[in-house]
Amino acid sequence: MAIAQEAASQRFRTAPVGRPDQTAPVIRPGVFRPGPLVEDVERLSRPGVVLSDEDIINVLVKYFHAYIYPGSEAHAVPLGDISELFWRFCGMWWEGTRDTPADLGLRDSTGYALRMLADLPKTGHIFRSIAGRPAMPTGLADGYVGLGLGTGTGVLLLAASLQARRHGAGRFDLLGVEYDTLVAERTGLLLDRLGVGRVVAADARDAQAYIDMVDGPITFVANETIPGMNQRMQSEHFSAIHGALFEAAAARLRETLFFPEGLVAVEPKTDASVVLSRQNRFQVPKYYRNVNVFPRAIIIEGRLTALTRLGKDFPRLIPPQVRRFLPRRW
Ligand SMILES: C[S@@+](CC[C@H](N)C(=O)[O-])C[C@H]1O[C@@H](n2cnc3c(N)ncnc32)[C@H](O)[C@@H]1O
Repeated sequence: MAIAQEAASQRFRTAPVGRPDQTAPVIRPGVFRPGPLVEDVERLSRPGVVLSDEDIINVLVKYFHAYIYPGSEAHAVPLGDISELFWRFCGMWWEGTRDTPADLGLRDSTGYALRMLADLPKTGHIFRSIAGRPAMPTGLADGYVGLGLGTGTGVLLLAASLQARRHGAGRFDLLGVEYDTLVAERTGLLLDRLGVGRVVAADARDAQAYIDMVDGPITFVANETIPGMNQRMQSEHFSAIHGALFEAAAARLRETLFFPEGLVAVEPKTDASVVLSRQNRFQVPKYYRNVNVFPRAIIIEGRLTALTRLGKDFPRLIPPQVRRFLPRRW
């Protein structure tokens, strides 16, 4: 395996600049673990089982494949097949292939959500911060309730299901709210097959969307509708979604864990920073509402981390020549 790996990495080094070797494995061959996604998820759900970055990257690439080919979560899919699909998908964003979303069985916007997931280092870091959380602030004897607002591919709800099960939650209720109906449908299908939870097609900025959805205290909320670093905070729905959630369910959010735990945005003219966290319901402070603030960093795993530094432990698992061609979350 080591020789095969070395040969593979030679190939990456000699691939022409600007054109990827589209036969390259998308993660290092020695890191890949054969076996179905459902088995990985089952094993990693057990309390006490170590959740390594290698485990996470395997889950991500297998989830990617199952998102495009529902049903494949139950089978051992070879790395070559996953990689081929990955390249076909990634190629659509830099016109490296002639595939269209329809060729991959994706209806229009479903490809956009999947593009976020395909930023493997950043997704891996976020996934680890949720699934690998070392301790929970409260016991989970009464169950675990989690929300994924702006669900996208649902991979963060999969991470939440691991968080719940690894901490011994007897039962868990996970719900995604996604306003793109095609994405909601596709993601709902896969989360249902994996026994993770359900997705409703609704606008998460609407407080009415939360009425009667879940009961009792909310254990975890993921809201990753964060704009790119050169886009104004208002260009995505991050604060509006949190505003609606707190309006609908403030009493149920007292002990809630959030992803991200906090977000730092800057006002470039004065270089002032504002922190959006549960203390201010993730809202831009009033004084800055009429000026442009731009996201810079999030609090993740208890640390303030620049968006550019997110995922920094994961590139070692991905061949360099592949990394250059991955889509970017931000
Ligand atoms: C950045 S992607 C989320 C990626 C997701 N965390 C993942 O890993 O796949 C944002 C998603 O939020 C959805 N979204 C944005 N604003 C929304 C809103 N107001 N209500 C519901 N969904 C929303 C988008 O359609 C998109 O699928």
